[in-house]
Amino acid sequence: MLSLQDNTILGQVGPRTMMGDLLRRFWVPFIEASRVEPVAGDPVEVELLGEKLIVFRDGEGRYVMFENFCPHRGTPLYYGKNEGDGLRCIYHGWKFDSTGACMEMPSEPARSNFKNKISAKSYPVREMAGILWAYMGPQEIMPGLPHIEWVGVTPEMRNIVRYNQECNWVQALEGDIDSSHVGFLHRGSLFRDASISRQDSDLLLYDTSPRWVVETTDYGMMLAAQRTTSDPAHDYWRINQWLMPYVTMIPTDLELRRAHGHMWVPINDVQTQVWCIIWSPTEELTQRERDNVQHGPMPHIATIDPDTGRLRATKANHFMQDRYLQRNTDLLSGIVGVREQDTAVVEGMGALADRTREHLGTSDIPIITMRRRLLRDAKALADGVEPLAASTGEHFGVRSWSALLESDKPFKENPRVSELMAAMA
Ligand code: FES
Ligand SMILES: [Fe+2]
Repeated sequence: MLSLQDNTILGQVGPRTMMGDLLRRFWVPFIEASRVEPVAGDPVEVELLGEKLIVFRDGEGRYVMFENFCPHRGTPLYYGKNEGDGLRCIYHGWKFDSTGACMEMPSEPARSNFKNKISAKSYPVREMAGILWAYMGPQEIMPGLPHIEWVGVTPEMRNIVRYNQECNWVQALEGDIDSSHVGFLHRGSLFRDASISRQDSDLLLYDTSPRWVVETTDYGMMLAAQRTTSDPAHDYWRINQWLMPYVTMIPTDLELRRAHGHMWVPINDVQTQVWCIIWSPTEELTQRERDNVQHGPMPHIATIDPDTGRLRATKANHFMQDRYLQRNTDLLSGIVGVREQDTAVVEGMGALADRTREHLGTSDIPIITMRRRLLRDAKALADGVEPLAASTGEHFGVRSWSALLESDKPFKENPRVSELMAAMA
């Protein structure tokens, strides 16, 4: 349970809010690079952290991001003409170069130097892993891009899909931190899913109330869930990673061949951009695996509409829940698609979950720890302390994994754990 005040702090992402300031210390992914025309193309509208923005490439192919707001009278710069060396606002012809500086002000007298004092608000943009990332924080402390594992593999080794979710980003993120829901909400979908093997699925369902080792780290949090197995000598361990503020890494299969993760990026207080990434650290994904993500017999994302970037299963149609499947198969949710299942439960909480009414149990310790970290860092930043996780992109190079470990050895003392952790770091 949270106080109303903390719940509000947690949810607000806009400028001059506590969490909004914290989020602006990190690079923010926002669109596939392929969606922005290569040279001197048309601006694309984007909303990120509650700010209305545009992105385009200038005549030299450099990415430019402006606030969608002309500093003259506030007309959307989206309508502007890309002249290669600058973007011209259609209202009174003011023109801004790629840094945002006003280069022409044809509506003012020729002798005026007013233009030297005006610039459009702009943010740096970088391309990485086929995705554009923006940095919306103070320029003097801009960190390097985050070195997440799937960024470093070839495009053939990963599959990335993006869609929007109609709720606050923290409750969307909480779904990945809360591994105890997997054996319930996703029952009946798991072993058919692109990122999990039959063996892992059976192990997950064998013990539905895992014990937790939760460790806060420089980059965020390591979550280890321990499950008993039918073999009393071995426990099944699943290691999740949370890379602040919105990146999650879900455990691989036991053979460490397939990994899976998300980025839960705030569009505004009540909408979230979901990036769903499946990758292999060791080999190329097969075409069949890629196809299965959206079109398999039990797809990971069943109803994505490529034109709108939204799911066709929505709150309004109860996520196409099928009561027949719920009653007559092992699909507890009756909802097809792992992402649809997650979306149904978190969107159903409301646009911004009311955490003053929750009753959290021991299985919620990871969520409690994650919220505390976000709130602690946001409040510390308000007091002038910069977040450690944002200090460098280097420490995000960790991995998630799963393993069968001897049950008589404590987790931290098991040499296999140090081996796996070291190999992943
Ligand atoms: S509003 Fe853009 S030039 Fe006047
Ligand atoms: Fe889930």
